Amino acid sequence: MSLVNCRLIDLPELKDSRGSLSFVEAGRQVPFLIRRIYYLYGVPLGAVRGGHAHKELHQLMIAMHGSFEILIDDGINKSVVALNNPARGLYICPMIWRELRGFSGYSVCVVLASEVYNEDDYLRNYSDFLGVRKGG
Ligand code: TYD
Repeated sequence: MSLVNCRLIDLPELKDSRGSLSFVEAGRQVPFLIRRIYYLYGVPLGAVRGGHAHKELHQLMIAMHGSFEILIDDGINKSVVALNNPARGLYICPMIWRELRGFSGYSVCVVLASEVYNEDDYLRNYSDFLGVRKGG
């Protein structure tokens, strides 16, 4: 899987005088079953999160509050995607190196993931990531 498989997903947004409601359903808005939700918050200005790839994991990342950027890299092509809207998420397929940066104050990143946490699924070293990509 490569960068062309990653994409921004516009989520349903139901707006009325009481505010907005968005939702994500497994197999509908996202092409995977959701087995875990985690979130990043209290991220200091200038901090960089991520810095790894996943062998099997599918994810959807949403800026639930505030904004940040995600660098995605398949070992050949790179792209930087800005997220700043709770009704839009970035789908990241397996085997994509990612770095999250440029967090605004009080931002919250919510991540929907296809599997429970498994450290064995991580490639935390960029050279190892490139090696696996070339091998595969
Ligand atoms: P890490 O994946 O390095 O964070 P990020 O990619 O957002 O910068 O995870 C930080 C720590 O949290 C690390 O010790 C693993 C642990 N962790 C869990 O226990 N469960 C989880 O679901 C996640 C995402 C991380």
